[in-house]
Amino acid sequence: MFERDGAGSGSRTRITSLENWNNNRYTIPAYFPKILTYLLCPGKRETSVAQTFYPRYTLPGFKEVRMGTELQHVLSADQFQDPRLIEEIFTRARQMRFGVDHGLCEPVLVGRVVAMIFYEPSTRTRLSFDTAAQLQGARVIGTESAGHFSSATKGETLEDSIRVIGGYADAIILRHPELGAAARAAAVSPVPIINAGDGNGEHPTQALLDLFTIVEKIGDPKNLHVAFVGDHLYGRTVHSLAHLLDLAQTRMSFISPRALRLPQNLRTQLAMRRLGIFESEHLQDVIDDADVVYMTRVQKERHQGVEGVSSDGSDYCLTPELVARMKPGSIILHPLPRNNEIPVEIDGDPRAAYFLQAKNGLYVRMALLSMILPPRNRGKHARHAT
Ligand code: NCD
Repeated sequence: MFERDGAGSGSRTRITSLENWNNNRYTIPAYFPKILTYLLCPGKRETSVAQTFYPRYTLPGFKEVRMGTELQHVLSADQFQDPRLIEEIFTRARQMRFGVDHGLCEPVLVGRVVAMIFYEPSTRTRLSFDTAAQLQGARVIGTESAGHFSSATKGETLEDSIRVIGGYADAIILRHPELGAAARAAAVSPVPIINAGDGNGEHPTQALLDLFTIVEKIGDPKNLHVAFVGDHLYGRTVHSLAHLLDLAQTRMSFISPRALRLPQNLRTQLAMRRLGIFESEHLQDVIDDADVVYMTRVQKERHQGVEGVSSDGSDYCLTPELVARMKPGSIILHPLPRNNEIPVEIDGDPRAAYFLQAKNGLYVRMALLSMILPPRNRGKHARHAT
């Protein structure tokens, strides 16, 4: 999936897996002169420190993957069919992580206004997008309870609100309880829409940060075994990540009560793939083999209780005994918030990666914003930038 030639570091060796690529990242002879030049000759600086450490992947004939033109809106994980886009996002996310860790974030979004319009509750998605925009110099506007504090209470349609907000902002991050809301918004929006969750539909930026965490913790997802546990019918993060992992040829299993199995169309699509999918009602069936155990909570707000599931979802919970059976190099992910699917005593286990996963959301969303709002067009408020 991630095969490519060289990493722009001076070496032109063929890199066949991300693991090799990651091992190649610190090739001292390639970076050493650049770092010396950066430190000693400020006048000759061609790139930021972050780009010096994490060189941008360049395609033959292209300066960089121009996501701003190819992917104006981010609506579904299915849009990331081209592995070069994922490469570009992940390379940038590593640069962003370096920048955040060293206080070296580049203000590439100065003059931009990013609108956060959330009709549903959110902690991680809203605050990480907000931080991602501000760390790069953008100003952030919006409302976190748009269903109550916007003109929606006066009967304004989503479409009208988006048209209006698109006149103020350069991009709109939208979370809405209805399936397909982001696509409806994109159909009328004058600026890019980023789907931050549309009902029980999709959550594509969550899937990108989930995949980033898998790649950083384990390596190339090809042929890894990812076991999804919990609510697959209403859990939008599962839908989006399954799309991405399908493209990456990952083995997938789905552990849930029958009533919360994947929606029929996605189930059919995944079942027809070469690798098929494994389905079971018992976590014990996969716990010894899985490389990634992706826990989710039962989406109680989206249904009135489901047959075969306790109201607290406790049938699909990890226990220390189950975790003890997991492979040593495996990881536990969860989009969060958790209910009782993962008891706190598991947090200290080296395989528990869900807080790191949430942190990765910042870097991946910084990367996405920098690609969707490229500096070549400085935005409608550039002349008012401070
Ligand atoms: C998820 C969501 O909103 O779909 N949360 C998140 O964005 N990290 C998962 C959930 O609410 O269960």
